[in-house]
Amino acid sequence: ADEEALRALLDTLPGGAPLRTVVHAGGVLDDATIGTASGERVRRVLRARAGAALALHRATAALDLDAFVLFSSLGGTLGTAGQATYAPGHAVLDALATA
Ligand SMILES: NC(=O)c1ccc[n+]([C@@H]2O[C@H](COP(=O)([O-])OP(=O)(O)OC[C@H]3O[C@@H](n4cnc5c(N)ncnc54)[C@H](OP(=O)(O)O)[C@@H]3O)[C@@H](O)[C@H]2O)c1
Repeated sequence: ADEEALRALLDTLPGGAPLRTVVHAGGVLDDATIGTASGERVRRVLRARAGAALALHRATAALDLDAFVLFSSLGGTLGTAGQATYAPGHAVLDALATA
C-alpha cells in the first residue's frame, strides 16, 4: 500500500526479467458492523485492499503484463454480515477489474 516503496521495489527488477504478472493478495481483517466501524478501522482495512491494489495498478499500468490478479469476494456485491470494513474493498477491486 506504500506506493513510493512499491515503485522503489519495481525499480530494482532486472531489465532482462521483466515483470509479467501482478498478484494482489493483501488484506487485513477487522470485522465490524457499520455502527461499530470507526473511520480509522475502515481506513486500515481499505488501505490493504483498495489502497494496495490501486497502487499496484498505477505503478504497473504502463507495463506489458500478462495478468493482473485480484482476490475479491462476493461480499462486495451481496454484503457479508459483520464485514462493513471489509466489503467496500471488494467493491473497489471489482471496479478496478472491470475498468
Ligand atoms: N481467505 C478468504 O476466505 C478470502 C476471501 C475473500 C477474499 N480474500 C482475499 O484474498 C487475499 C488473500 O487472502 P488470505 O486469506 O491469504 O489473506 P491473509 O492470510 O490474511 O494474508 C494477507 C496478507 O496481506 C498482507 N498485508 C496486510 N496489510 C498490508 C498492506 N497494507 N500492504 C500490503 N500487504 C499487506 C499481510 O502481510 P503481513 O502478514 O506481513 O501483515 C498478509 O501477508 C486477500 O486479499 C483477501 O482479502 C480472502
